[in-house]
Amino acid sequence: MDKIIIRGGKPLSGTIQISGAKNAALTLLPCALLTDEPLTLRNLPRLADIDGFQHLMTQFGVSTTIAGSRPEDFGRVMTLEATRITSSTAPYDLVRKMRASILVLGPMLARMGGATVSLPGGCAIGNRPIDLHLKVLEALGAQIELAAGYVRAIAPDGGLPGGRYAFPVVSVGATENALMAAATATGKSTLHNAAREPEIVDLCNLLVAMGAEIEGIGSSDLTIHGVPRLHGATYRVMPDRIEAGSYACAAAITGGSVHLAGARIEEMDATVGALRDAGVHVEPVRGGIDVAADGPLRPVTISTAPYPGFATDMQAQLMAMLCLAEGSSVLTETIFENRYMHVPELNRMGAHIETKGRTAIVNGVSKLSGAEVMATDLRASMSLVIAGLAAEGETVVHRLYHLDRGYERLEEKLSGVGADIERVGSD
Ligand code: EPZ
Repeated sequence: MDKIIIRGGKPLSGTIQISGAKNAALTLLPCALLTDEPLTLRNLPRLADIDGFQHLMTQFGVSTTIAGSRPEDFGRVMTLEATRITSSTAPYDLVRKMRASILVLGPMLARMGGATVSLPGGCAIGNRPIDLHLKVLEALGAQIELAAGYVRAIAPDGGLPGGRYAFPVVSVGATENALMAAATATGKSTLHNAAREPEIVDLCNLLVAMGAEIEGIGSSDLTIHGVPRLHGATYRVMPDRIEAGSYACAAAITGGSVHLAGARIEEMDATVGALRDAGVHVEPVRGGIDVAADGPLRPVTISTAPYPGFATDMQAQLMAMLCLAEGSSVLTETIFENRYMHVPELNRMGAHIETKGRTAIVNGVSKLSGAEVMATDLRASMSLVIAGLAAEGETVVHRLYHLDRGYERLEEKLSGVGADIERVGSD
Protein backbone atom coordinates (compact mmCIF):
# COMPACT_ATOMS: atom_id res chain seq x y z
CA MET A 1 0.00 0.00 0.00
CA ASP A 2 1.15 3.56 -0.70
CA LYS A 3 2.38 5.85 2.02
CA ILE A 4 3.11 9.57 2.23
CA ILE A 5 6.40 10.97 3.53
CA ILE A 6 6.37 14.55 4.82
CA ARG A 7 9.38 16.51 5.99
CA GLY A 8 7.81 19.23 8.10
CA GLY A 9 8.65 22.83 8.93
CA LYS A 10 7.99 24.50 5.58
CA PRO A 11 5.47 27.40 5.70
CA LEU A 12 2.92 26.90 2.92
CA SER A 13 2.79 29.72 0.40
CA GLY A 14 0.90 30.09 -2.87
CA THR A 15 -2.42 29.00 -4.39
CA ILE A 16 -4.34 25.78 -3.78
CA GLN A 17 -7.18 25.00 -6.20
CA ILE A 18 -10.19 23.67 -4.31
CA SER A 19 -11.91 20.67 -5.93
CA GLY A 20 -15.58 19.92 -6.34
CA ALA A 21 -17.20 18.77 -3.10
CA LYS A 22 -17.14 15.00 -2.47
CA ASN A 23 -20.22 15.15 -0.25
CA ALA A 24 -22.15 17.12 -2.84
CA ALA A 25 -21.09 14.89 -5.75
CA LEU A 26 -22.18 11.75 -3.90
CA THR A 27 -25.76 13.01 -3.69
CA LEU A 28 -25.86 14.61 -7.15
CA LEU A 29 -24.75 11.43 -8.95
CA PRO A 30 -27.82 9.33 -7.95
CA CYS A 31 -30.11 12.07 -9.28
CA ALA A 32 -29.36 10.60 -12.71
CA LEU A 33 -31.73 7.78 -11.76
CA LEU A 34 -34.62 10.26 -11.58
CA THR A 35 -34.77 10.89 -15.33
CA ASP A 36 -34.30 9.03 -18.61
CA GLU A 37 -32.51 12.08 -20.03
CA PRO A 38 -28.76 12.80 -19.76
CA LEU A 39 -27.48 14.39 -16.55
CA THR A 40 -24.10 16.12 -16.94
CA LEU A 41 -22.15 17.00 -13.80
CA ARG A 42 -19.16 19.34 -14.05
CA ASN A 43 -16.28 19.90 -11.62
CA LEU A 44 -16.45 16.35 -10.25
CA PRO A 45 -13.43 15.57 -8.05
CA ARG A 46 -11.13 12.69 -8.98
CA LEU A 47 -11.70 10.57 -5.86
CA ALA A 48 -12.04 6.89 -5.05
CA ASP A 49 -15.61 7.35 -3.81
CA ILE A 50 -16.68 9.05 -7.04
CA ASP A 51 -15.21 6.19 -9.06
CA GLY A 52 -17.02 3.76 -6.77
CA PHE A 53 -20.32 5.53 -7.29
CA GLN A 54 -19.81 5.57 -11.04
CA HIS A 55 -19.27 1.80 -10.92
CA LEU A 56 -22.41 1.36 -8.82
CA MET A 57 -24.47 3.34 -11.33
CA THR A 58 -23.25 1.17 -14.19
CA GLN A 59 -24.50 -1.86 -12.22
CA PHE A 60 -28.00 -0.42 -12.64
CA GLY A 61 -27.57 -0.09 -16.40
CA VAL A 62 -26.77 3.62 -16.29
CA SER A 63 -24.35 4.67 -19.02
CA THR A 64 -21.60 7.02 -17.89
CA THR A 65 -19.09 8.97 -19.96
CA ILE A 66 -16.24 11.05 -18.61
CA ALA A 67 -14.81 14.08 -20.37
CA GLY A 68 -11.84 16.21 -19.37
CA SER A 69 -12.14 19.40 -17.40
CA ARG A 70 -13.46 22.63 -18.86
CA PRO A 71 -11.01 25.55 -18.47
CA GLU A 72 -13.06 27.10 -15.68
CA ASP A 73 -13.34 23.82 -13.78
CA PHE A 74 -10.75 21.83 -11.84
CA GLY A 75 -12.77 18.64 -11.89
CA ARG A 76 -14.00 16.27 -14.56
CA VAL A 77 -17.24 16.27 -16.51
CA MET A 78 -19.38 13.14 -16.25
CA THR A 79 -22.57 12.48 -18.21
CA LEU A 80 -24.92 9.82 -16.89
CA GLU A 81 -27.87 8.39 -18.83
CA ALA A 82 -30.40 6.20 -17.03
CA THR A 83 -32.45 5.61 -20.16
CA ARG A 84 -33.10 2.02 -19.19
CA ILE A 85 -32.51 0.69 -15.68
CA THR A 86 -31.67 -3.00 -15.71
CA SER A 87 -31.34 -3.55 -11.96
CA SER A 88 -32.75 -1.83 -8.87
CA THR A 89 -30.45 -3.67 -6.46
CA ALA A 90 -27.32 -2.21 -4.82
CA PRO A 91 -25.34 -5.33 -3.80
CA TYR A 92 -23.47 -5.91 -0.55
CA ASP A 93 -20.02 -6.12 -2.12
CA LEU A 94 -20.38 -2.57 -3.48
CA VAL A 95 -22.28 -0.97 -0.59
CA ARG A 96 -19.86 -2.28 2.05
CA LYS A 97 -17.01 -0.41 0.31
CA MET A 98 -18.90 2.87 0.10
CA ARG A 99 -21.61 3.79 2.62
CA ALA A 100 -22.88 6.63 0.41
CA SER A 101 -24.41 3.92 -1.81
CA ILE A 102 -27.43 4.20 0.49
CA LEU A 103 -28.20 7.42 -1.41
CA VAL A 104 -29.52 5.40 -4.35
CA LEU A 105 -32.43 4.15 -2.22
CA GLY A 106 -34.66 7.22 -2.55
CA PRO A 107 -34.15 7.95 -6.26
CA MET A 108 -34.32 4.27 -7.29
CA LEU A 109 -37.54 3.86 -5.29
CA ALA A 110 -39.00 6.95 -6.99
CA ARG A 111 -37.98 5.90 -10.49
CA MET A 112 -38.67 2.15 -10.37
CA GLY A 113 -41.33 1.91 -7.68
CA GLY A 114 -38.99 -0.32 -5.70
CA ALA A 115 -35.35 -0.57 -4.60
CA THR A 116 -33.20 -3.13 -2.79
CA VAL A 117 -30.05 -1.86 -1.10
CA SER A 118 -27.62 -3.71 1.15
CA LEU A 119 -27.55 -2.26 4.64
CA PRO A 120 -24.34 -0.17 4.74
CA GLY A 121 -23.24 -1.17 8.22
CA GLY A 122 -21.05 0.98 10.38
CA CYS A 123 -17.60 2.44 9.82
CA ALA A 124 -14.63 3.55 11.89
CA ILE A 125 -16.27 6.72 13.24
CA GLY A 126 -19.55 5.19 14.35
CA ASN A 127 -22.25 2.63 13.73
CA ARG A 128 -23.94 4.95 11.25
CA PRO A 129 -27.56 3.66 11.42
CA ILE A 130 -30.01 4.38 8.59
CA ASP A 131 -33.24 4.28 10.61
CA LEU A 132 -34.04 7.90 9.72
CA HIS A 133 -33.65 7.15 5.99
CA LEU A 134 -36.23 4.38 6.34
CA LYS A 135 -38.62 6.36 8.56
CA VAL A 136 -38.74 9.35 6.24
CA LEU A 137 -39.33 7.14 3.17
CA GLU A 138 -42.16 5.39 5.04
CA ALA A 139 -43.60 8.83 5.83
CA LEU A 140 -43.54 9.54 2.07
CA GLY A 141 -45.57 6.37 1.52
CA ALA A 142 -43.01 3.62 0.99
CA GLN A 143 -43.32 0.12 2.42
CA ILE A 144 -40.00 -0.92 3.98
CA GLU A 145 -38.82 -4.50 4.64
CA LEU A 146 -35.51 -5.62 6.11
CA ALA A 147 -34.25 -9.11 5.27
CA ALA A 148 -30.90 -10.86 4.92
CA GLY A 149 -28.92 -7.66 5.42
CA TYR A 150 -30.84 -5.79 2.74
CA VAL A 151 -33.50 -3.09 2.87
CA ARG A 152 -36.33 -3.41 0.35
CA ALA A 153 -38.41 -0.29 -0.28
CA ILE A 154 -41.62 -0.45 -2.34
CA ALA A 155 -43.86 2.36 -3.51
CA PRO A 156 -47.57 1.42 -3.47
CA ASP A 157 -49.04 1.30 -7.00
CA GLY A 158 -45.59 2.21 -8.27
CA GLY A 159 -45.73 5.83 -7.09
CA LEU A 160 -44.97 7.57 -3.77
CA PRO A 161 -47.85 9.79 -2.54
CA GLY A 162 -45.54 12.06 -0.53
CA GLY A 163 -46.11 13.04 3.09
CA ARG A 164 -44.79 14.89 6.13
CA TYR A 165 -41.82 14.04 8.35
CA ALA A 166 -40.09 15.83 11.22
CA PHE A 167 -36.55 14.53 11.78
CA PRO A 168 -35.82 13.84 15.49
CA VAL A 169 -32.11 14.14 14.65
CA VAL A 170 -30.64 16.18 11.79
CA SER A 171 -29.45 13.74 9.14
CA VAL A 172 -27.72 14.85 5.93
CA GLY A 173 -28.15 11.52 4.12
CA ALA A 174 -31.74 10.95 5.19
CA THR A 175 -32.65 14.48 4.07
CA GLU A 176 -31.00 13.77 0.72
CA ASN A 177 -32.81 10.47 0.21
CA ALA A 178 -36.10 12.14 1.12
CA LEU A 179 -35.59 15.03 -1.31
CA MET A 180 -34.76 12.70 -4.19
CA ALA A 181 -37.74 10.45 -3.42
CA ALA A 182 -40.21 13.33 -2.96
CA ALA A 183 -39.29 15.22 -6.15
CA THR A 184 -41.53 13.03 -8.34
CA ALA A 185 -44.08 11.96 -5.72
CA THR A 186 -47.71 12.31 -6.74
CA GLY A 187 -48.41 14.80 -3.92
CA LYS A 188 -46.74 17.35 -1.67
CA SER A 189 -44.09 16.50 0.93
CA THR A 190 -42.84 18.57 3.86
CA LEU A 191 -39.63 17.89 5.77
CA HIS A 192 -38.97 19.52 9.15
CA ASN A 193 -35.68 19.73 11.04
CA ALA A 194 -34.10 18.82 7.71
CA ALA A 195 -30.34 19.16 7.25
CA ARG A 196 -29.25 22.59 5.90
CA GLU A 197 -25.71 21.77 4.79
CA PRO A 198 -24.54 23.55 1.60
CA GLU A 199 -24.45 20.12 -0.02
CA ILE A 200 -28.21 19.86 0.58
CA VAL A 201 -28.66 23.25 -1.11
CA ASP A 202 -26.56 21.96 -4.03
CA LEU A 203 -28.85 18.93 -4.30
CA CYS A 204 -31.98 21.13 -4.20
CA ASN A 205 -30.52 23.41 -6.86
CA LEU A 206 -29.82 20.44 -9.13
CA LEU A 207 -33.30 18.97 -8.60
CA VAL A 208 -34.85 22.36 -9.42
CA ALA A 209 -32.67 22.54 -12.54
CA MET A 210 -34.17 19.14 -13.47
CA GLY A 211 -37.71 20.50 -13.01
CA ALA A 212 -38.44 19.82 -9.34
CA GLU A 213 -40.48 22.28 -7.28
CA ILE A 214 -38.89 22.87 -3.85
CA GLU A 215 -39.58 25.65 -1.33
CA GLY A 216 -37.49 26.60 1.71
CA ILE A 217 -34.12 25.72 0.13
CA GLY A 218 -31.40 26.41 2.69
CA SER A 219 -33.78 26.21 5.63
CA SER A 220 -34.68 23.29 7.87
CA ASP A 221 -38.29 23.30 6.61
CA LEU A 222 -38.54 22.02 3.04
CA THR A 223 -41.68 21.68 0.92
CA ILE A 224 -41.49 19.57 -2.21
CA HIS A 225 -44.38 19.67 -4.70
CA GLY A 226 -44.08 16.39 -6.62
CA VAL A 227 -43.92 16.69 -10.42
CA PRO A 228 -44.70 13.91 -12.92
CA ARG A 229 -41.19 13.73 -14.35
CA LEU A 230 -37.77 15.33 -14.22
CA HIS A 231 -35.64 16.21 -17.24
CA GLY A 232 -31.88 16.15 -17.77
CA ALA A 233 -29.59 19.02 -16.81
CA THR A 234 -26.00 20.22 -16.76
CA TYR A 235 -24.81 21.24 -13.32
CA ARG A 236 -21.52 22.31 -11.70
CA VAL A 237 -20.71 20.68 -8.36
CA MET A 238 -20.07 23.19 -5.56
CA PRO A 239 -16.53 23.61 -4.17
CA ASP A 240 -15.49 21.42 -1.26
CA ARG A 241 -15.78 23.48 1.92
CA ILE A 242 -14.18 20.72 4.01
CA GLU A 243 -11.16 20.44 1.72
CA ALA A 244 -10.84 24.24 1.85
CA GLY A 245 -11.04 24.22 5.66
CA SER A 246 -8.48 21.43 5.81
CA TYR A 247 -5.93 23.36 3.75
CA ALA A 248 -6.64 26.49 5.80
CA CYS A 249 -5.59 24.55 8.92
CA ALA A 250 -2.47 23.36 7.09
CA ALA A 251 -1.53 26.92 6.16
CA ALA A 252 -2.14 28.11 9.71
CA ILE A 253 -0.12 25.42 11.50
CA THR A 254 2.89 26.04 9.19
CA GLY A 255 2.74 29.83 9.64
CA GLY A 256 2.08 30.16 5.94
CA SER A 257 -0.07 32.20 3.60
CA VAL A 258 -2.23 30.53 0.93
CA HIS A 259 -4.98 31.47 -1.51
CA LEU A 260 -7.77 28.87 -1.64
CA ALA A 261 -9.00 29.25 -5.20
CA GLY A 262 -12.71 28.56 -5.65
CA ALA A 263 -13.55 28.37 -1.94
CA ARG A 264 -16.75 30.09 -0.86
CA ILE A 265 -16.39 31.78 2.53
CA GLU A 266 -20.14 32.12 2.93
CA GLU A 267 -20.37 28.32 3.31
CA MET A 268 -17.63 28.17 5.96
CA ASP A 269 -18.74 30.60 8.68
CA ALA A 270 -18.14 28.31 11.66
CA THR A 271 -14.75 27.11 10.40
CA VAL A 272 -13.68 30.68 9.57
CA GLY A 273 -14.87 31.81 13.00
CA ALA A 274 -12.76 29.17 14.75
CA LEU A 275 -9.70 30.00 12.63
CA ARG A 276 -10.07 33.73 13.36
CA ASP A 277 -10.52 33.02 17.09
CA ALA A 278 -7.23 31.12 16.87
CA GLY A 279 -5.55 34.24 15.46
CA VAL A 280 -5.52 33.15 11.80
CA HIS A 281 -6.17 35.83 9.17
CA VAL A 282 -8.98 34.71 6.82
CA GLU A 283 -10.16 37.09 4.11
CA PRO A 284 -12.57 36.64 1.21
CA VAL A 285 -10.92 37.81 -1.99
CA ARG A 286 -11.82 37.66 -5.67
CA GLY A 287 -12.06 34.01 -6.64
CA GLY A 288 -11.62 32.50 -3.20
CA ILE A 289 -10.23 32.98 0.28
CA ASP A 290 -6.81 34.10 1.57
CA VAL A 291 -5.56 32.43 4.77
CA ALA A 292 -2.43 33.51 6.65
CA ALA A 293 -0.93 32.97 10.10
CA ASP A 294 1.91 35.26 11.11
CA GLY A 295 1.84 34.88 14.88
CA PRO A 296 1.22 32.32 17.61
CA LEU A 297 -2.02 30.35 17.46
CA ARG A 298 -4.53 30.91 20.24
CA PRO A 299 -6.58 28.10 21.83
CA VAL A 300 -10.30 27.88 20.99
CA THR A 301 -13.37 26.04 22.27
CA ILE A 302 -15.77 24.48 19.76
CA SER A 303 -18.54 21.88 19.67
CA THR A 304 -19.42 20.17 16.39
CA ALA A 305 -23.02 20.62 15.25
CA PRO A 306 -25.20 20.34 12.15
CA TYR A 307 -24.80 23.23 9.69
CA PRO A 308 -24.43 26.16 10.22
CA GLY A 309 -22.61 24.91 13.32
CA PHE A 310 -18.98 23.76 13.29
CA ALA A 311 -18.71 20.79 10.91
CA THR A 312 -17.84 17.44 12.43
CA ASP A 313 -15.85 16.82 9.24
CA MET A 314 -13.52 19.66 10.29
CA GLN A 315 -12.95 18.53 13.89
CA ALA A 316 -9.86 16.37 13.35
CA GLN A 317 -8.15 18.94 11.12
CA LEU A 318 -8.73 21.85 13.53
CA MET A 319 -7.51 19.65 16.40
CA ALA A 320 -4.24 19.02 14.58
CA MET A 321 -3.74 22.76 14.11
CA LEU A 322 -4.52 23.47 17.77
CA CYS A 323 -1.78 21.08 18.94
CA LEU A 324 0.61 24.02 18.52
CA ALA A 325 -1.65 26.70 20.04
CA GLU A 326 -0.45 28.61 23.11
CA GLY A 327 -2.91 27.18 25.62
CA SER A 328 -5.60 24.53 26.01
CA SER A 329 -8.43 24.12 23.52
CA VAL A 330 -11.65 22.22 24.20
CA LEU A 331 -13.31 20.31 21.36
CA THR A 332 -16.60 18.45 21.76
CA GLU A 333 -17.74 15.96 19.11
CA THR A 334 -21.53 15.80 19.27
CA ILE A 335 -22.30 14.06 15.95
CA PHE A 336 -20.36 10.76 15.87
CA GLU A 337 -19.50 8.50 18.77
CA ASN A 338 -15.98 7.51 17.79
CA ARG A 339 -14.33 10.38 15.97
CA TYR A 340 -11.15 10.76 18.06
CA MET A 341 -9.04 8.01 16.51
CA HIS A 342 -6.53 10.62 15.34
CA VAL A 343 -5.78 11.51 18.99
CA PRO A 344 -3.42 8.62 19.82
CA GLU A 345 -1.51 9.19 16.59
CA LEU A 346 -1.21 12.94 17.20
CA ASN A 347 0.01 12.22 20.74
CA ARG A 348 2.66 9.92 19.29
CA MET A 349 3.87 13.00 17.40
CA GLY A 350 4.30 14.87 20.67
CA ALA A 351 0.85 16.41 21.05
CA HIS A 352 -0.74 16.51 24.49
CA ILE A 353 -4.41 15.67 24.00
CA GLU A 354 -6.71 14.13 26.58
CA THR A 355 -10.13 12.76 25.70
CA LYS A 356 -13.00 12.36 28.13
CA GLY A 357 -16.06 10.89 26.39
CA ARG A 358 -17.14 13.29 23.64
CA THR A 359 -14.69 16.00 24.76
CA ALA A 360 -11.02 16.42 23.85
CA ILE A 361 -8.70 18.81 25.69
CA VAL A 362 -5.87 19.88 23.40
CA ASN A 363 -3.03 21.24 25.55
CA GLY A 364 -0.81 23.17 23.17
CA VAL A 365 2.84 22.14 22.91
CA SER A 366 5.81 24.03 21.49
CA LYS A 367 6.59 21.49 18.80
CA LEU A 368 5.54 18.24 17.15
CA SER A 369 7.95 15.50 16.10
CA GLY A 370 7.67 13.47 12.91
CA ALA A 371 6.73 9.79 13.30
CA GLU A 372 5.31 6.80 11.47
CA VAL A 373 1.53 7.11 11.86
CA MET A 374 -1.51 5.16 10.75
CA ALA A 375 -4.59 6.69 9.09
CA THR A 376 -7.85 5.27 10.46
CA ASP A 377 -10.52 7.26 8.65
CA LEU A 378 -10.76 10.02 6.09
CA ARG A 379 -10.56 13.14 8.24
CA ALA A 380 -8.20 11.56 10.80
CA SER A 381 -5.75 10.92 7.96
CA MET A 382 -5.85 14.59 6.96
CA SER A 383 -5.22 15.65 10.55
CA LEU A 384 -2.03 13.54 10.52
CA VAL A 385 -0.91 15.21 7.28
CA ILE A 386 -1.55 18.64 8.81
CA ALA A 387 0.49 17.73 11.91
CA GLY A 388 3.27 16.29 9.74
CA LEU A 389 3.54 19.54 7.76
CA ALA A 390 4.50 21.36 10.97
CA ALA A 391 6.39 18.58 12.77
CA GLU A 392 10.17 18.55 13.07
CA GLY A 393 11.61 15.71 11.01
CA GLU A 394 9.91 13.11 8.90
CA THR A 395 6.32 11.86 9.19
CA VAL A 396 5.19 8.76 7.32
CA VAL A 397 1.41 8.33 6.93
CA HIS A 398 0.24 4.76 6.19
CA ARG A 399 -3.13 3.45 4.87
CA LEU A 400 -3.61 6.23 2.36
CA TYR A 401 -6.76 4.65 0.96
CA HIS A 402 -8.57 6.58 3.68
CA LEU A 403 -7.09 9.87 2.47
CA ASP A 404 -7.75 9.12 -1.21
CA ARG A 405 -11.47 8.96 -0.54
CA GLY A 406 -11.70 12.69 0.11
CA TYR A 407 -8.61 14.61 -0.97
CA GLU A 408 -7.90 14.86 -4.68
CA ARG A 409 -4.20 15.10 -5.67
CA LEU A 410 -3.18 16.04 -2.13
CA GLU A 411 0.58 15.73 -2.64
CA GLU A 412 0.42 17.77 -5.86
CA LYS A 413 -1.59 20.52 -4.19
CA LEU A 414 0.66 20.67 -1.11
CA SER A 415 3.93 20.42 -3.09
CA GLY A 416 2.63 23.32 -5.16
CA VAL A 417 2.68 25.55 -2.09
CA GLY A 418 6.09 24.49 -0.84
CA ALA A 419 5.48 21.37 1.26
CA ASP A 420 8.16 18.68 1.22
CA ILE A 421 5.80 15.76 0.61
CA GLU A 422 5.92 12.65 -1.56
CA ARG A 423 3.88 9.48 -2.06
CA VAL A 424 5.81 6.25 -2.28
CA GLY A 425 4.70 2.70 -2.92
CA SER A 426 4.97 0.40 0.07
CA ASP A 427 8.29 -1.36 0.47
C1 EPZ B 1 -22.82 12.93 5.90
O1 EPZ B 1 -22.89 11.62 6.45
C2 EPZ B 1 -21.40 13.08 5.35
N1 EPZ B 1 -21.17 12.08 4.30
C3 EPZ B 1 -20.40 12.89 6.48
O2 EPZ B 1 -19.10 13.13 5.94
C4 EPZ B 1 -20.67 13.93 7.57
O3 EPZ B 1 -19.79 13.71 8.65
C5 EPZ B 1 -22.13 13.81 8.04
O4 EPZ B 1 -23.03 13.93 6.92
C6 EPZ B 1 -22.49 14.90 9.06
O5 EPZ B 1 -22.28 16.15 8.48
C7 EPZ B 1 -21.63 12.31 3.06
O6 EPZ B 1 -22.26 13.32 2.79
C8 EPZ B 1 -21.33 11.25 2.03
P1 EPZ B 1 -25.86 12.09 9.07
P2 EPZ B 1 -24.34 11.05 6.91
O7 EPZ B 1 -26.95 11.23 8.57
O8 EPZ B 1 -25.39 11.53 5.99
C9 EPZ B 1 -27.14 9.80 13.01
C10 EPZ B 1 -16.82 12.76 5.56
O9 EPZ B 1 -15.86 12.75 6.34
N2 EPZ B 1 -28.08 9.09 12.12
O10 EPZ B 1 -26.02 13.58 9.01
O11 EPZ B 1 -24.19 9.58 7.10
C11 EPZ B 1 -25.69 9.43 12.71
O12 EPZ B 1 -25.31 8.25 13.40
C12 EPZ B 1 -18.12 12.07 5.96
O13 EPZ B 1 -16.83 13.32 4.44
C13 EPZ B 1 -29.03 8.24 12.69
O14 EPZ B 1 -29.09 8.08 13.90
O15 EPZ B 1 -24.50 11.73 8.33
C14 EPZ B 1 -24.95 10.64 13.20
O16 EPZ B 1 -24.80 10.54 14.61
C15 EPZ B 1 -18.01 11.36 7.30
N3 EPZ B 1 -29.89 7.58 11.86
C16 EPZ B 1 -25.90 11.80 12.90
O17 EPZ B 1 -27.19 11.19 12.73
C17 EPZ B 1 -29.86 7.76 10.51
O18 EPZ B 1 -30.70 7.16 9.81
C18 EPZ B 1 -25.57 12.57 11.63
O19 EPZ B 1 -25.50 11.63 10.57
C19 EPZ B 1 -28.89 8.62 9.96
C20 EPZ B 1 -28.01 9.29 10.77
